[in-house]
Amino acid sequence: MGGLSRRGNREEGPGAATDKGLRVARFGGAFPTVNAATSSRFQESSTTPFPGHKAYEEHYPDKYKTKRSERVRRPVIAGNWKMYKTIAEAVDFVAKVKPLVAAAAHCEIIVAPPFTALRAVAEAVKGSNIAVAAQDVHWDKEGAHTGDVSPAMLREAGCTHVIIGHSERRHDHGESDEQVNKKAKAALAAGLIPIICVGETLDEREAGRTEEVLKRQFQRGFAGLTPPDFSRIIVAYEPVWAIGTGRTATPEMAAESHRYFRGLVRGQLGEGVAATLRILYGGSVKPDNVGGLMAQEEIDGALVGGASLKPDSLSALVNYPRA
Ligand code: PGA
Repeated sequence: MGGLSRRGNREEGPGAATDKGLRVARFGGAFPTVNAATSSRFQESSTTPFPGHKAYEEHYPDKYKTKRSERVRRPVIAGNWKMYKTIAEAVDFVAKVKPLVAAAAHCEIIVAPPFTALRAVAEAVKGSNIAVAAQDVHWDKEGAHTGDVSPAMLREAGCTHVIIGHSERRHDHGESDEQVNKKAKAALAAGLIPIICVGETLDEREAGRTEEVLKRQFQRGFAGLTPPDFSRIIVAYEPVWAIGTGRTATPEMAAESHRYFRGLVRGQLGEGVAATLRILYGGSVKPDNVGGLMAQEEIDGALVGGASLKPDSLSALVNYPRA
């Protein structure tokens, strides 16, 4: 596919994947595909190395790397702060939330502050189990793009992740699937982990077009991405009608869309890639519904807006009820 030739540009740190199927260094090389045999090997492994690039792995204190996850795909709880929090508020939030989530080794924790607070938050989370994402990125390295920020600038500010293609970007700023694709490739090339958002609007769902929309977003937004790329990408399924509306998709509805999306990945890139791809759900996730969502095997975490803005609430989301 088109993206293959780009690999030379990409960071090849200890977390980078090789080309041979899913022999991915982030799983310690012992996790080529998911089937009964490999999943039991995974259970036996005493460590769950964190995915991603060097900076991300260095970010985490060892104590969080020595815990193993009971799930094949390590859960992610990500807070998308949108256009909330000044630098001072963001730093204060981190000081309050750090002790509340310090014992949480079962999932990855990410917060996505506004651009202005990225650097300060990256400093504030140092030595903790919280990683920092930006909410958008431009695909060019530099240039005449007023208001935009490049992947390298985000790395410099201390980001390890970046949210791409959020529906608010798609709708407020007319972002297309093609732009999402360019942003994803640029983020990967710079060593950032993209959290790529997909999801249908209410009209599209009511017209029975959910699968068609997800298919288009996959085919265009993820075009040319390789298995090694997919080993680093996180997908967020966020039905637009559930964002900020209090209308959550039921766990079953969300799982159905996740299953469909994973099937698209399987069809294009094979079982190994599909089985290890983390798909988060987003849209009115709250402490009182996160447990039901996370109980779905298909749901690998949550991308949370409103309920991620208070330390207690984010901590309750991170420490979701687990069987
Ligand atoms: P919400 O936002 O949790 O406030 O619905 C989710 C999102 O937009 O990522």
